[in-house]
Amino acid sequence: MKLEELKEECRKCHKCNLSKTRNTVVFGNGNSNAKIMFIGEGPGKQEDLSGKVFVGEAGHLLDKMLKAIDLKREDIYIANIVKCRPPQNRDPFPEEEEACIEYLRNQVRIVNPKILVCLGRVAAKRIINPDFRITREHGEWIKRGKFWIIGTYHPAALLYDPTKKRDSWEDLKKIKEKLESLG
Ligand code: URA
Ligand code: SF4
Repeated sequence: MKLEELKEECRKCHKCNLSKTRNTVVFGNGNSNAKIMFIGEGPGKQEDLSGKVFVGEAGHLLDKMLKAIDLKREDIYIANIVKCRPPQNRDPFPEEEEACIEYLRNQVRIVNPKILVCLGRVAAKRIINPDFRITREHGEWIKRGKFWIIGTYHPAALLYDPTKKRDSWEDLKKIKEKLESLG
């Protein structure tokens, strides 16, 4: 299956209740051959209105974070755990994540990156480990199958608490090193 076909399917999805309150399905964007894929939590207000991932304030900070390690949006693929906005930006419910996760799995299969970066607690818990503690375990690589996976702070968390930026920068450097080492 191609990304466009999957996107078409996702656009019509009503597998969970988030379909009732969304404006737009936010499937994901980026380079379909990316070596590195970033995984967020779910669309916020701007994303829900525009249909694009990470276009709000957190998205602007994400662009700066990428730039700091010489990456642009065109170099990466980016998607969320859930494709429809949870009302008031609440965390997605487990049943919503469960209903949606197959889209992300297929995105990972199609893009076939070498590195997966989980942005924030929600993504890290779903992808790495349900007990993942972002403050303790951010910046630690795990290898699963052929994928290198890391969790780091969500840009929205850095906006909320800028003292975390120092740790975030260390994680970004590790990501850059890994990307270079994998060629
Ligand atoms: N936060 C996310 O996790 N994803 C987006 O697309 C926007 C904000
Ligand atoms: Fe479908 Fe995912 Fe949207 Fe739920 S969040 S309706 S599973 S696309």
